[in-house]
Amino acid sequence: MANILSFFLVIYLLNFSPILCLSSKANNYGYLYPQFYDRSCPKAKEIVKSVVAKAVATEGGMAASLLRLHFHDCFVKGCDASLLLDSSGTIVSEKTSNANRNSARGFEVIDEIKSALEKECPKTVSCADILALVARDSTVLAGGPTWEVPLGRRDSRDASLSDSNNNIPAPNNTFNTILTKFLSQGLDLVDLITLLGAHTIGNARCTSFRQRLYNQYGNNLPDYTLDQSYAAQLRTRCPRSGSDGNLFFLDYVSPTKFDNSYFKNLLASRGLLNSDQVLATMNPMSLALVNVYANNNEIFFEQFARSIVKMGNISPLTADRGEIRKNCRKINS
Ligand code: HEM
Ligand SMILES: *[C@@H]1O[C@H](CO)[C@@H](O)[C@H](O)[C@H]1NC(C)=O
Repeated sequence: MANILSFFLVIYLLNFSPILCLSSKANNYGYLYPQFYDRSCPKAKEIVKSVVAKAVATEGGMAASLLRLHFHDCFVKGCDASLLLDSSGTIVSEKTSNANRNSARGFEVIDEIKSALEKECPKTVSCADILALVARDSTVLAGGPTWEVPLGRRDSRDASLSDSNNNIPAPNNTFNTILTKFLSQGLDLVDLITLLGAHTIGNARCTSFRQRLYNQYGNNLPDYTLDQSYAAQLRTRCPRSGSDGNLFFLDYVSPTKFDNSYFKNLLASRGLLNSDQVLATMNPMSLALVNVYANNNEIFFEQFARSIVKMGNISPLTADRGEIRKNCRKINS
């Protein structure tokens, strides 16, 4: 069964996805394309890359934090940099949502990029495009795949705390809830599994998976889909209560290297979050794809590039919609 599914999945990945990719039309108002700043700000991509490289050289963990920002932006009103706005006036910042509070980080790096770009070419490069470029550069710096980043997004003039709470999946959401949240963004099952491969780098706090260690089912038993010796290790630094902010690698095998070991961990019942492990336990198609990726890093890399470009195409503001913010933290006055 798993072998037959894997066979069709590989066929799908190798043949059909590029077709889907070509049809990744941004929206009815315009298209994104990689050359968008070639004339208006030819050094834009280089400037972004150099600031990201410096930040990651200073702190390796920053690559993961920066990659995650693009996801948390795109799932809320599209990839429009709504995530970056601080609270002020009518804006209620998304930074205080369940997914972002005490967790989303790297905003100072985005600020540094923005001020370098404003010096080079004022009011030209959007904060939303910065997030898309930064996601690519961070992935590459961590050893992952590269891709051309379609550009031309503009920045929102508002934010949505409620969409941030509702649209970004929680680590204890069921497989079906998570899939539904991806489908409603125009992403499919393959995109979901592939993009979750981003958890090959970075950290999660104790509070994001404690439930699995102690009381997964409301009867004081740990999650039986979690390797019990791994669970015992995790409990030493994630007690029943307290130490909420203690950090754990999402991929304990190679925490700063972007590779397919995340999928190997899932097969060994060593996914950190419940939302990671369900990819291997709740759906045969999903398990088949986890197997494909665990066995073939290259197929994972190729599909990751396609799926993240697709995610980056979620409802961008183009043409005369939105604005190019001067400061990513506030709307222009
Ligand atoms: C089912 C969907 C997802 C869920 C439930 C989820 C949940 C989480 C949680 C709970 C954390 C740890 C946060 C903390 O404790 O502070 C995390 C971290 C992270 N997530 Fe996800 N995530 C999902 C999808 C994604 C996607 C699609 C990407 C990127 C393409 C991504 C990239 C990351 C990265 C890189 C980190 C590490 C951040 C850091 O070290 O600062 N995640 N995620
Ligand atoms: C999921 O986690 C949240 C936050 O910790 C908690 O309030 C909620 O009860 C949990 N949901 C389930 C189904 O366990």
